[in-house]
Amino acid sequence: MTRPIRIAITGPCGSIGYSILFRIASGDLFGHQQPIELRLLARNTPESQSRLKGTMMELADCAFPLLAEMSAHTDEKELFDGAECVFLIGAQPRKDGMDRSDLLRANGEIFRRQGRALNERASRDVRVLVVGNPCNTNAYIAMRNAPDLKRESFSALMRLDQNRAMARVAEKLEAPVSGIEQVFVWGNHSNTMYPDIRFLRYKGHRLADQFDPQWQEEFIKNVATRGGQIIKARGASSAASAASAALDHMRDWILGSQGKCCTMAVPSDGSYGIPEGLVFGFPCLCPGEARYQIISNMPMTQEVRRRLEITRDELINEARAVADLLP
Ligand code: LMR
Repeated sequence: MTRPIRIAITGPCGSIGYSILFRIASGDLFGHQQPIELRLLARNTPESQSRLKGTMMELADCAFPLLAEMSAHTDEKELFDGAECVFLIGAQPRKDGMDRSDLLRANGEIFRRQGRALNERASRDVRVLVVGNPCNTNAYIAMRNAPDLKRESFSALMRLDQNRAMARVAEKLEAPVSGIEQVFVWGNHSNTMYPDIRFLRYKGHRLADQFDPQWQEEFIKNVATRGGQIIKARGASSAASAASAALDHMRDWILGSQGKCCTMAVPSDGSYGIPEGLVFGFPCLCPGEARYQIISNMPMTQEVRRRLEITRDELINEARAVADLLP
């Protein structure tokens, strides 16, 4: 039988964590032939440990054939020991009225610690996805604190924004989302992101010219503020949709995106004038074997450059604001 893949998850009992765990264990991430091991983090409090214990009881009761092993940890170094695939989900979530920048300080320290622990103990081929917000800068903090790991091991979740953009386009076309391709999102997972549908294809046909400029403006705003809209409507931030997008991101990264363009926030290689190392949403292709390539030759216009600069500058400012958390 194939060796189980070692997966570590922080925040397993929060809403996103609770949604993702059962899907991973049922085979939605690595397919129905690949056994997995789950290593789960609890805080060092009786409540947190009891909650994780209950969640693990439920996982056991699902009798998932692929779940070869699971363990609870309060120590992050132990959690990440030999981990090959890591979801950093645990962080203070944004509440109604809070801006992302309010979260920077609150969550930055967590990601510094976790970056260091990954550096010490994770597999040298680990793949890390940061979901906890502000995810781009949290991934940047973790990456910078893990100098012995490859920079390309770190990424942040912007697939949720791509999925949202695809869903809005499908609604507009009154067509199923399955025929939609070549939609991606640039920049920061914040209101400054730029969802780009210039190259949109539906069932292989170019369509973007059919959308009037006013609808496109509304679409950009709608996708960029969708997280906030959900917080307002639900009274809590998105959970199942974030978990689903995190699975999409990690699955495409590790197994390949089947020639499809997918949005990943990854350390810039300098493409499009984005400073090297800044964790920025780019259109990517994943050829399989846990690799990705930034698509670096997308045509630019003055207007697109302007939008990219806005979201880039926001990320540069976030990086400055956490400079004391970087080595
Ligand atoms: C989302 O996009 O739904 C989450 O990142 C929540 C947020 O703070 O926007």
